[in-house]
Amino acid sequence: QLIAPALEQVVQAVASASTAPREATILFGSQTGNSQRLAGKLADKLKAQGFEVTLSAMSGYKTNGLKKTAHLFIVASTHGEGDPPDNALTFHEFLYSKRAPKLDGLKFSVLALGDTSYEFFCKTGIDFDERLAELGAERLIARVDCDLDFEAPANEWMASVIGSLDAATGTGAAAATVGAPAVASVSAESEYSRSNPFKAEVLTTINLNGRGSDRETRHLELSLEGSGLFYEPGDCVGVYPENDPALVDAIIAAMNWSPSEVVVPGKDGDEGTLRSALLRQFEVTVLTKPLLEKAAAYTDNGQLAELIAPEKKTELKAYTNGRDLLDLLQDFGPWKLTAVNLVSILRKLPPRLYSIASSNKANEDEVHLTIRKVEYEAHGRARGGVCSVQVSERLAEGDTLSIFIQHNPNFKLPANPETPIIMVGPGTGVAPFRAFMEEREELGLEGKTWLFYGDRHFVTDFLYQTDWQRMLNDGVLTKLDVAFSRDTKEKVYVQHRMLQQAEELYSWLQEGAHVYVCGDEKHMAHDVHNALLTIIEQQGGLDAEAAKAYLAELQAQQRYQRDVY
Ligand code: 2AM
Repeated sequence: QLIAPALEQVVQAVASASTAPREATILFGSQTGNSQRLAGKLADKLKAQGFEVTLSAMSGYKTNGLKKTAHLFIVASTHGEGDPPDNALTFHEFLYSKRAPKLDGLKFSVLALGDTSYEFFCKTGIDFDERLAELGAERLIARVDCDLDFEAPANEWMASVIGSLDAATGTGAAAATVGAPAVASVSAESEYSRSNPFKAEVLTTINLNGRGSDRETRHLELSLEGSGLFYEPGDCVGVYPENDPALVDAIIAAMNWSPSEVVVPGKDGDEGTLRSALLRQFEVTVLTKPLLEKAAAYTDNGQLAELIAPEKKTELKAYTNGRDLLDLLQDFGPWKLTAVNLVSILRKLPPRLYSIASSNKANEDEVHLTIRKVEYEAHGRARGGVCSVQVSERLAEGDTLSIFIQHNPNFKLPANPETPIIMVGPGTGVAPFRAFMEEREELGLEGKTWLFYGDRHFVTDFLYQTDWQRMLNDGVLTKLDVAFSRDTKEKVYVQHRMLQQAEELYSWLQEGAHVYVCGDEKHMAHDVHNALLTIIEQQGGLDAEAAKAYLAELQAQQRYQRDVY
């Protein structure tokens, strides 16, 4: 599915060798910043080849540009259950509306980011790809769909894009000298990145929940000393976790393999044994359809073949939900599978992203994270989140964690420090707001700030309570509203507090306030969104349609930003 057809298309492009203008538009739809970064990288590369490039978030793009550009490249991620990222919503809607123009003569290609553990893998990218073709545009090269480990296929897509553009627009070599060199942003960058993570020492690890709480939330302080890494409030840290040794040992034992068998090339003092590979390099806690398909080649057990049949979508979802590699190996034997075969079909262990809970300006050479332990019981076995359990149970001060900084341009404080901000962050969703407030405290910024926080119990679960109290006292935090859902008979959530203060909240909006929402997407962010609509409708005297337009306009102006997961 990935990269195959590119060459053929290059050849075609050469054959039709026209002199299309050396001009391109690159649009991204990005939630956590990956698509945005890749789009920026393509822009730099094309500029270096002498192309005139328009680079924009889909939300900020004037759609009449579609008729004026010769080449359109789209980088779009999919999140949730096949949903477009926030900043792709209006463009997506536009293309599927009656207002969408005929796009004959436009050449395009789509890079889609996604996760094969979701049913609607790369749905947003697929939508754009199909719709542009429907509107008459022509694929310059085929869409590339990336799984979590997107770096290599994304680079190959870019190389194909550049190759076929060169073929279609005349020689790149000559033009390259004309273009501005792609130096922008490179100079100040650290040598550490997603593909070369920094080993950060753990300076502090404490449980923020009080005794008797049914939750455990770690506050981690990590050292960035010597890394050259910097971050802004709203950015994230990617953490490369280690799998649970008990689970890894159970997998090896279930297959009667030797933990010390070398299965991958060694690197960085790691010998590449089966045990270390399963601990640190490969994903063992998630079952994706591609994994099951590949595994089916190593067993005669017909039940696995049956499960991956096209008409068994529901059964497949029910099976993979909450199960891991140990279940797969136990359920579908006898296997004709070696340890080397196994690692050849596993996905790489992806990094986990956490919103940063500190201001870099207030904490030189440090980054703070807020990580809640995820534990649950499924199919008769206790299970947990790979990273959060490691951090809670197997990480001590003095240990190291492999990390990188993921900049998130879609969750940023207003440029003008006078602009009021409203922050909604129940549970660990409060993390970036600690960063926001520390930053404003450090810089001595004025301007009104309002935090809505919620969790289960006031006594045990009020994360960073003393920080908020200090900030209220020193005036950095203007207002704090809390909702503790399990202290009273009736549940109270952050959105209930927002609705209770509808009048004041709306007046902040009318004064130009920015609204930030961080935390659970499926329930909380959805309900908060609806609460905002209700408030706008009631207080603004608008009907439902007009309230929706009001909120969409806030989103388009980046006055309504979400970091939800
Ligand atoms: P609950 O677990 O008592 O239902 C942080 O996890 C807080 O978010 C908890 O108090 C949790 O309440 C609450 N929460 C759960 N669902 C929510 C929703 N749909 N909207 C807002 N808050 C929610």
